[in-house]
Amino acid sequence: MAIESLVKENIKSLRPYEIPDIPCSVKLDAMENPYDLPEEIKELVKEKVGGFNRYPDPLSNDLRKSIASYLGIDKEEIMVGNGSDELILNILLTFKSNQVIFPTPTFAMYKILAQVANSKPVGIPLSNEFELDDEVILATADADSIIFLAYPNNPTGNCFSKEKMLRIVEEAEGLIVIDEAYFEFSKETFLSVIDSYPQVIILRTFSKAFGLAGLRCGYLVAHPELVKALFKVKLPYNLNSFSQIVAGCVMENFRYLLQPQINQIITQRERLYLFLKKINGIIPYPSDANFILFKTTNVPANTIFSELVEEGVLIRNLTEDIPNCLRVTVGTEQENNTFMEKLDKICRKY
Ligand SMILES: Cc1ncc(COP(=O)(O)O)c(C=O)c1O
Repeated sequence: MAIESLVKENIKSLRPYEIPDIPCSVKLDAMENPYDLPEEIKELVKEKVGGFNRYPDPLSNDLRKSIASYLGIDKEEIMVGNGSDELILNILLTFKSNQVIFPTPTFAMYKILAQVANSKPVGIPLSNEFELDDEVILATADADSIIFLAYPNNPTGNCFSKEKMLRIVEEAEGLIVIDEAYFEFSKETFLSVIDSYPQVIILRTFSKAFGLAGLRCGYLVAHPELVKALFKVKLPYNLNSFSQIVAGCVMENFRYLLQPQINQIITQRERLYLFLKKINGIIPYPSDANFILFKTTNVPANTIFSELVEEGVLIRNLTEDIPNCLRVTVGTEQENNTFMEKLDKICRKY
């Protein structure tokens, strides 16, 4: 029997998600928080961690309570997942999604998971200034579609125009997911719209500002009726006990222990941006997140990428999606210094 004939049609054309293993001492490719967890939080975790012989709380009640109190909302409006990736998949499996609409370029998982869920992915190009085409989005969306808007957007780094976002929220048919994975860096949110627009879901993650990318934890905020529907699809023990404990400790101590890290990253982002602006042949785009997209005009992006790797610095090469564009994650001051020094050296060579 041909094994291929067993695979669903919508899966056949997909490729497994791969991240090439390129060992570099300075890793600035994945929008992670470059700092380890503060010792105080590690101590709290040690006190709370118990045996792993029991299943985790299937409702993640303690963690949802911590998130609810941080946001000043009700726990029934929150669901947590094994990374926001899992929440995106659950949204697609729960709600009508003949079409999954997103601007391009944007976070790759909207398209990939739409294909997995057998929905039709519809990418709507951003303008040259990376702004939404609200006209086309509204003309395309119908009652059976889901619109995904990353705010700030990855990989462009910008928050879209508030007016355009609100227009989509007010006028679009179907569900709208606003992915605020980088909220702590932009400080801009649409959280308050869910009271008036129950078709809006806000997505957040612990992988970026909260520094827990390795623990796979994300959450969404939505009308309790939407959350109830999502719980029908959620796997019973989707978030392991350890992640629930650590995410809870981080959330409860965020303002005192993590906020200083975020402030550092924002300061470093501004420093990196100004530096990139001064380099001949580099055009950086303003960022509201913890990464900066930049275009190379004199030297091909592929060359800059591989020469940086040779120097031990890993960033993300996006040239296949956005010609001659690269994305650098803001690291520690020292990591950023190394990146700037090596990039400057490479650019001066050509
Ligand atoms: C916009 C956006 N949403 C979600 C994610 C993924 O988050 P998680 O690690 O919670 O799956 C990313 C990761 O890069 C992202 O850029």
